[in-house]
Amino acid sequence: MRVTIEQALELIWSGGVVAFPTETVYGLGASALDAGAVAKVFDIKGRPNHNPLIVHVSSVEMARSLVAGAWPDRAHLLAATFWPGPLTLVVPKGPMIPGVVTGDGHTVAVRMPDHPVALDLIDRAGTPVVGPSANPSTRISPTRAEHVEQDYNEAVPVLDGGPCARGIESTVIDATAEPPRILRAGVVGAPELTKALSTEVLLDTGTSTPTTKPARSPGTQSTHYAPTRAVLHLHDHAALDRVIEEDSGSTIYLTDRVVSGVDANRVLTLPSDAGELEPMWYDTLRRADELAGAHHTGEIHLFIDLEALPPHVRDRIVRAASMVH
Ligand code: TXA
Ligand code: MG
Repeated sequence: MRVTIEQALELIWSGGVVAFPTETVYGLGASALDAGAVAKVFDIKGRPNHNPLIVHVSSVEMARSLVAGAWPDRAHLLAATFWPGPLTLVVPKGPMIPGVVTGDGHTVAVRMPDHPVALDLIDRAGTPVVGPSANPSTRISPTRAEHVEQDYNEAVPVLDGGPCARGIESTVIDATAEPPRILRAGVVGAPELTKALSTEVLLDTGTSTPTTKPARSPGTQSTHYAPTRAVLHLHDHAALDRVIEEDSGSTIYLTDRVVSGVDANRVLTLPSDAGELEPMWYDTLRRADELAGAHHTGEIHLFIDLEALPPHVRDRIVRAASMVH
């Protein structure tokens, strides 16, 4: 169900939930100052309540009002360099933010998105807006309004802002840590952050080590997925011939190479350019999943040169293959 900005504002003001566009992915929005509304976001998403939410702001001033004490110097530098943009700052949490937002933690994650519709919504709402990615917990992040509609069977109202230009979630940096640490790899990389802060920034995401080994879904987690949800197997290009030899007649192929010897309708082509792949990765993964459902298979085989991709894209692909999002 699509809504106008006026309807979205009414929802925010009345303690409701509305999905909204950002430059990275769609967020599940609610007033960050309304504990009841925030609880609904956790509920709709099926998110464990100890996993904190990002608070979206439309100005640095609004961000400053959310922290405890003074706005940290590093937050000042990073906001001046990267906002509005795909960088989320973890800073000390002020009393204005209800504990439910941060999983009762003492820090709050803040971001000013680079999307005119999101900025207009937050600005006119006059309140900061929580926004976890608008997918059910552990599923693929939405980069189009229709993804949100599909994921929630139209039950969540969506403010449509078109396809997300970046397509991968923001970088999350703990600006209070010494040295500052990247908690989630994203569009803004460690070298740019290191340069902006004139101090070395560590990548601490736990999944930054690339792997080309085929990863299988851990049994217990796979049971949380819908029956048509497929397992993504990662390979380098050298494995293509072997997998084709073992083709089951329903295997789905995802690759930037030419695949011959299997039905063309089981092959989804990826751009070989990383910059082109990035905004379409999640949409392509959804299409591969649908294709797997249509062919009654649980197997998607992805052939890609992981080393050639930027760390944040590699991170999302490896996570998709291990079904941890
Ligand atoms: O690009 C994005 O960041 C999107 C758009 C909608 O802005 N939002 C998003 O939210 O990806 P979510 O909730 O799916 O991911 C937020 C990440 C989670 O890994 C969460 O654990 C982490 O940020 N996070 C949030 N608050 C935190 C805090 N206070 N300390 C450490 N990590 C935090
Ligand atoms: Mg998410």
